[in-house]
Amino acid sequence: MYYSPNMNYYNRAMNMPKEDNVLELIKEAMKDERHDRIKYKNMMDMAKSEKVRKQIEFAYNDEGKHYKMFQKIYFMLTGKTIDIPAPKVEEYSKLIDAVETSINGELAAVELYRKIQSMLPNMQLRDMLFEILTDEQEHAARFIYIYSMLKD
Ligand SMILES: [Fe+2]
Ligand SMILES: [Fe+2]
Repeated sequence: MYYSPNMNYYNRAMNMPKEDNVLELIKEAMKDERHDRIKYKNMMDMAKSEKVRKQIEFAYNDEGKHYKMFQKIYFMLTGKTIDIPAPKVEEYSKLIDAVETSINGELAAVELYRKIQSMLPNMQLRDMLFEILTDEQEHAARFIYIYSMLKD
């Protein structure tokens, strides 16, 4: 078979657009996890009922766990520990509006994490992504439940 030096894996990885580089996607994920944790803390402060606050708290706690898991995955791939600065988080005057964007945010996270999962080199790392992405599916379900409680 004809071998072109331009077609080897190294060059392909180097020429990949930024969004297709798994390390860049992990950094993006870490930024999203920090964003969501701050957003959910704000939402817990806005909640008028304990029942709603508790539901948001599940997701709040998980996002902290996810950030650490992505940090560990990044370390296992590179030998480097990184931290992502807290991003700016949008403000809401009504809790239900924040809940609505959270449903979409969680579903988008599932898509992104499925992509990251498919790019990871071993079962241990893919299992970690599986845990994270099933948590995000659970968060989406919780936010749909909260939305239905706030609707009426
Ligand atoms: Fe998360
Ligand atoms: Fe989440």
